[in-house]
Amino acid sequence: MKLLVCGGAGFMGSHFIKYILAKYPDYQVVNFDKLTYAGYLENLHEVENDPRYKFVQGDICDREILEKTVQEFGIEAIVNYAAETHVDRSIMDPDAFLRTDVLGTFNLLEVTKKFNLKKMVQVSTDEVYGSIEKGSFTEESPFAPNSPYAAAKAGGDHLCRAYFVTYQTPVVVSHSCNFYGANQYPEKIIPLFITNLLEGKKVPLYGDGKNVREWIHTSDHCRAIDLLLHKAEPGEVYNIGTGQEIENVELTKLILAEMGQGEEMIEPVKDRPGHDRRYSINWSKIKEDLGWEPEKDFGEGLEETIEWYRANESWWRKLKSGEYLEYYKKQYK
Ligand code: DAU
Repeated sequence: MKLLVCGGAGFMGSHFIKYILAKYPDYQVVNFDKLTYAGYLENLHEVENDPRYKFVQGDICDREILEKTVQEFGIEAIVNYAAETHVDRSIMDPDAFLRTDVLGTFNLLEVTKKFNLKKMVQVSTDEVYGSIEKGSFTEESPFAPNSPYAAAKAGGDHLCRAYFVTYQTPVVVSHSCNFYGANQYPEKIIPLFITNLLEGKKVPLYGDGKNVREWIHTSDHCRAIDLLLHKAEPGEVYNIGTGQEIENVELTKLILAEMGQGEEMIEPVKDRPGHDRRYSINWSKIKEDLGWEPEKDFGEGLEETIEWYRANESWWRKLKSGEYLEYYKKQYK
């Protein structure tokens, strides 16, 4: 198969490309990425000389270059990881979120339709369902997004549904819980806290720290997207979760303990506006239909992730300068 992976230089996209090339020797993968602040070709150094791998710098908002790429490489399917993803950034500066997450998704649907591609997999989020105090969201739950990021992703997901219903465009949508693992840009809680501690800095915990998130390791997520690409019926929607839920404050204590540091390193800061209290999704559908189950234990995955950041200091130190510092200065002023 000739696969276009959009956003392939980012955290999750790069893991997926490496997973696909390792698993399917006869596949060709084109990594289509704008190289925003969160996209690093270094994430793909293991495959950069693989003749089955190509990189094209491009923006999914630019239909012309997308069409040219699909034609030039004879692309048969698209997996879309390209998105603006950070909630705090969307609160400060939503424009890019609307463009990439809504209009970019629209362009990919148009291209999938125009060139009769076999499949498009839209990688989306559980945040489209909003916050839930008890129980878990299913694929039937209504959308109730609370941040500009979540609303933009919901817009893209609605377009996917509409394209399937109206044109039978073969798109499958996934709603995943919070990702973690190696190579995650150090703005999300896990890599931010680990790298702050490695730098001898405190960790900024929002509000009372009792917000709950559900965590999935990159390896489990790659297996799920692989199944959606090859086995899911067009028009289907799948939640990808693990049941590994934890309050932020408990997660912070786990990181501190693992890194041999005390709770005095926690710095309570003002809460995120509109901060969702709890995310939890029911993933029985993907288990029943496609036989997927998470394999990575959260404690073990967290330990490995901490080790990775310890061993790859030059990777994250570069990122925690320049633009990154400007962003955090703005947030905490
Ligand atoms: O649920 C899936 C979503 O998870 C993805 O769709 C998003 O792209 C991804 O950014 C993530 O959203 P969150 O807002 O849950 O992730 P974040 O790592 O920003 O925050 C996780 C929790 O930690 C949240 O309750 C806010 C809190 N937090 C976060 C940061 C960055 C802190 O307390 N301090 C921080 O400095």
